[in-house]
Amino acid sequence: MRSEYCGLVTEALLGQQVTLCGWVNRRRDHGGVIFVDLRDREGYVQVVCDPDRPDMFKAAEGLRNEFCVQVKGLVRARPEGTTNDAMKSGKIEVLCHEITVLNASVTPPFQLDDEHLSETTRLTHRVLDLRRPYMQKNLMLRYKVAMAVRKYLDENGFIDIETPMLTKSTPEGARDYLVPSRVHDGQFFALPQSPQLFKQLLMVAGYDRYYQITKCFRDEDLRADRQPEFTQIDIETSFLTEEDIRAMFQGMITHVFQTTMGVDLGEFPILPYAEAMFKYGSDKPDLRVKLQFTELTDVMADVDFKVFSAPAQAKNGRVVALRVPGGAEMSRSEIDAYTEFVKIYGAKGLAWIKVNDVAQGRDGLQSPIVKNLHDAAIAAILQRSGAQNGDILFFGADKAKVVNDAIGALRIKIGHSEFAKKTGLFEDRWAPLWVVDFPMFEYDDEGHRWNAVHHPFTAPKDGHEDYMDTDPGQCIAKAYDMVLNGWELGGGSVRIHRADVQAKVFQALNISPDEQQIKFGFLLDALQYGAPPHGGLAFGLDRLITLMTKADSIRDVIAFPKTQRAQCLLTQAPSPVDEKQLRELHIRLRNPDAAKASA
Ligand code: AMO
Ligand code: AMP
Repeated sequence: MRSEYCGLVTEALLGQQVTLCGWVNRRRDHGGVIFVDLRDREGYVQVVCDPDRPDMFKAAEGLRNEFCVQVKGLVRARPEGTTNDAMKSGKIEVLCHEITVLNASVTPPFQLDDEHLSETTRLTHRVLDLRRPYMQKNLMLRYKVAMAVRKYLDENGFIDIETPMLTKSTPEGARDYLVPSRVHDGQFFALPQSPQLFKQLLMVAGYDRYYQITKCFRDEDLRADRQPEFTQIDIETSFLTEEDIRAMFQGMITHVFQTTMGVDLGEFPILPYAEAMFKYGSDKPDLRVKLQFTELTDVMADVDFKVFSAPAQAKNGRVVALRVPGGAEMSRSEIDAYTEFVKIYGAKGLAWIKVNDVAQGRDGLQSPIVKNLHDAAIAAILQRSGAQNGDILFFGADKAKVVNDAIGALRIKIGHSEFAKKTGLFEDRWAPLWVVDFPMFEYDDEGHRWNAVHHPFTAPKDGHEDYMDTDPGQCIAKAYDMVLNGWELGGGSVRIHRADVQAKVFQALNISPDEQQIKFGFLLDALQYGAPPHGGLAFGLDRLITLMTKADSIRDVIAFPKTQRAQCLLTQAPSPVDEKQLRELHIRLRNPDAAKASA
């Protein structure tokens, strides 16, 4: 039916007859001549319809947006002055000889090139939205990335093995999506949060190097970089050390950027978790932002200002400053807006100092708080932060978690602002890094127990095993995350392959032997049969493509995504089901009216 893609007709085909198939992007009548922009997945071509072929011209007059048509015609050069360098086909046009309408279209609910469509409109009419070049470009890149990943992994001896979708709860710790069993009354499958346990079993089974590009399901609160159903590039390997694994997958991401975008990511700095928290209050710092915390906890313990001294004296408290070079020009209303912003993260306020003249010490500062600080504290603030005239310093004082979250978020907020771009505090580049040496455990204040930071199959650093009995907080894991531009792109760990170490971890996590058996018995059993040293990681494919395309949202790189409220607007899922289906599944609704009402 077709000799070329519309978007690929170039001057190489000058003087040739072509047959094209595509959609009418727009029809323009120019007094006697009709121009049709014909579109397919490769782009547009301009089709010119002259009135000297009456049948064809009549067909052209009947064309409307989104009609699917076949066009036969002659490729000719565009007249001087009408070429368009932005298009691959911009130097030519197709003089139309014949038009066949393959299928008409009703009037679309929106213009495909409207840039201000609401996301609800786009997701409701996803098919039309997916026709737009923006979405086609994103999904095309997604495909190319997946292919580059497969090629790299194949060349390195990794084999693709599928793992079940109907399975048991996995250890990632989010809420499960459950699937009721018809055959087994009252029993449920869980959709996998990741293939974690199965890929470890494949290592025990001797497959040595596994990968899969696969769906994972997590029923968690959705954010800009999260979907309930998302895709992992999931990998596991035997007989490689932590360093080997990082090198191999840094190589993979480097290869992907190089081959699909021609971008050289350069070196990946390696940042220990503790240093990342110390400098940026985050385990996924955006290194494009040139702002860092200044630690002040030690000097604030004895100041006459409770807001600072109380957290400085408390066990888990922290006091930091964030110096913003050139920030003294910020207005009162901007400062107030930032104060409101940090409250989202639990901060109670946002103290600040404007530095007018460092040389004058206290007298050169403008601030509501300096009167409460003694000279040594002021000297430490200025000296440690490296304050210069014209800077502003913001302060966070609270539990360390609140300070890290609030001032970490403020660092990003200011660092991504127009002000930062204008003043060079934001560097427009790719900023990959590894964050390593994560703690094994974090203390849950409410549950009064230790939780695994990664998952309970993560190995401790050599020599850290004994901390599990004495001081779990000191125990560092062989876990690593790859971070890009402030997003956690992937994460993984070396796993425990010895039963005695695994037992200690379960003990530290207070998981009873019964619970271990119920949840993970099949893995613990397999580990007894000569399990090899192994480890791996998983990358979020959706996140990777979102970053590569600089898309506004993760939903723009997924063909059929869910909304922030975990719904599919296209198919209207989830939706109520028949009473008969429920009965087969042994389910009675607790609140049948709610199901009807929300449908
Ligand atoms: P983790 O839970 O860190 O590790 O997930 C790995 C990567 O998956 C991506 N990701 C998500 N992307 C979109 N929406 C979500 N809701 C979502 N959740 C996670 C992130 C993340 O870095 N089994 C371990 C990996 C391992 O140890 O090998 C795991 O799943 O990019
Ligand atoms: P106050 O003494 O409560 O009026 O606070 C004086 C200044 O400290 C104001 O600028 C507050 O925004 C700020 N502030 C209050 N609590 C905190 C806090 N926990 N961390 C940082 N600044 C704070």
